[in-house]
Amino acid sequence: MSTNKPLRIALTKGRLEKDTVALFESMGLDCTAVHKKGRKLILPIGESIEVVLAKANDVITYVENGVCDLGVVGKDTILEMGGSFFEILDLGFGRCKFAVAGKADSNFFEGYETKVIATKYPTVASSYFDEKGMDVSIIKIEGSVELAPLLGLAGAIVDIVETGSTLKANGLEVLEDICDISARLIVNVASLKLRKREIESLVDGMEQIVKI
Ligand code: PRP
Repeated sequence: MSTNKPLRIALTKGRLEKDTVALFESMGLDCTAVHKKGRKLILPIGESIEVVLAKANDVITYVENGVCDLGVVGKDTILEMGGSFFEILDLGFGRCKFAVAGKADSNFFEGYETKVIATKYPTVASSYFDEKGMDVSIIKIEGSVELAPLLGLAGAIVDIVETGSTLKANGLEVLEDICDISARLIVNVASLKLRKREIESLVDGMEQIVKI
């Protein structure tokens, strides 16, 4: 049985939003309202879906608290923020990786002194170095983390690498890969029970396109 309320999906604004809208269009859903959105942040898609445009961390907050049934967010944000929700589908786009990067000649992993890492992702960085048994001091930076080793604030960074061009343009390189990242579909725990059939039918449709 379907309720009259649309399924509400929080999309991470920007590239993941565009890729998700393209996915919805491949499923035959009408995304005109999103293309003409102006400054509007809640928009209908097709007959029975409503998208909410939000920052990555907020996508998780809205889904976790049940004000959105589903969300599209990068695995990077999921790994950093955690939270109580189901991660049900790898959407295959938004592919990049977490890596340790630094100056090519830095010999970052040599020597016994405590290393300094700059990152926007302190949780990911600290669990990576904990697992390696390496004692590091982590400094949180909000953006353009590549500046930290250039300015002498940190010996290396933990950051997202997509094409590698930002590292290259700044004389840095990947020292170690941490893990692959891509966009994920997440679902509120209660919604998956209460609106199981609608969610399953949407996810099946998405999965068929993603698999191609
Ligand atoms: C991300 C990331 C790198 C860059 C990597 O930054 O933090 O700086 O993209 O992409 P590339 O490998 O294709 O060069 P973003 O553009 O999100 O900006 P920010 O650094 O201000 O967060």
